[in-house]
Amino acid sequence: MKRIVTMGRGGTGKTSFVALMAKHFIEIQETPLLLVDVDPDQNLGEMVGVDLSQSGKKTISELVIETFLEKGGTTIGIPPSERIESQIWADGLYESEFFDLIAVGTKFIEGCYCLPDAALKGALEGLTKNYKYVLIDSPAGIEHLNRRIASKVDDIFDIIGPSKKSFDHVQRAYKIAREVGVNFSNFYVIGGFRFPEHMKTKAKEATQLDYLGKIAYDEQVEEYVLSGKSLWKLPSTSPAYNSVKQILAKAGY
Ligand SMILES: Nc1ncnc2c1ncn2[C@@H]1O[C@H](COP(=O)(O)OP(=O)(O)OP(=O)(O)O)[C@@H](O)[C@H]1O
Ligand SMILES: [Mg+2]
Repeated sequence: MKRIVTMGRGGTGKTSFVALMAKHFIEIQETPLLLVDVDPDQNLGEMVGVDLSQSGKKTISELVIETFLEKGGTTIGIPPSERIESQIWADGLYESEFFDLIAVGTKFIEGCYCLPDAALKGALEGLTKNYKYVLIDSPAGIEHLNRRIASKVDDIFDIIGPSKKSFDHVQRAYKIAREVGVNFSNFYVIGGFRFPEHMKTKAKEATQLDYLGKIAYDEQVEEYVLSGKSLWKLPSTSPAYNSVKQILAKAGY
């Protein structure tokens, strides 16, 4: 089982990248997959055609609230992951033939994700199902690295935008990932759909990391996201999808 994390600044194309990566793995039958949405704005589900609540599933934050607050419990002094892990598998896991999906959900208590994070971390560490890949979509920025949801990761893909800040982001992310003890094998840089191709040399120089190419701009991705249509329905000619496949090939997938 390999764990793959996608990172980057806001709006660089992290979630669509995860969705397209999953599309590829399903097409080449490298399954089952576990898709993990760590972003409170959760839209990974939508991009792969899953509506958690319509499927009767809950986010980890919702499960934490139910278990510890509504059922009369307290959030203080209890090892949370122990009490909630089994519930994540029962009520939080969307299951289907080729992939499953879980989401952390909206901020639970103002300023702190500690409980949902601990629950997710415990659940991910105790995975019983043998997934081929666990694909983690993170929120924008690098704060979530400190949340240490996954301490062992195979590949990190950091998607950069067309700004100097993006380069800084990559360098900080790399540094912090190491400092907080995220154990990763590869840290790859990818140009986002707005990243100018001619800046790739600069990206390599500035970051000193492996640059794997750029996600192609694709009008259809915009349209699909706007209308809430699954990116898995994109045609095989989709420039974005094909660029993602090329990037994955360079990373050895
Ligand atoms: N390849 C692409 N071509 C054109 N537009 C794209 C492409 N990928 C994403 N977009 C557009 O950019 C928006 C942001 O994409 P996405 O949600 O994947 O980014 P993100 O980095 O996950 O954002 P956030 O930081 O908010 O989580 C999408 O709503 C979509 O309209
Ligand atoms: Mg996103």
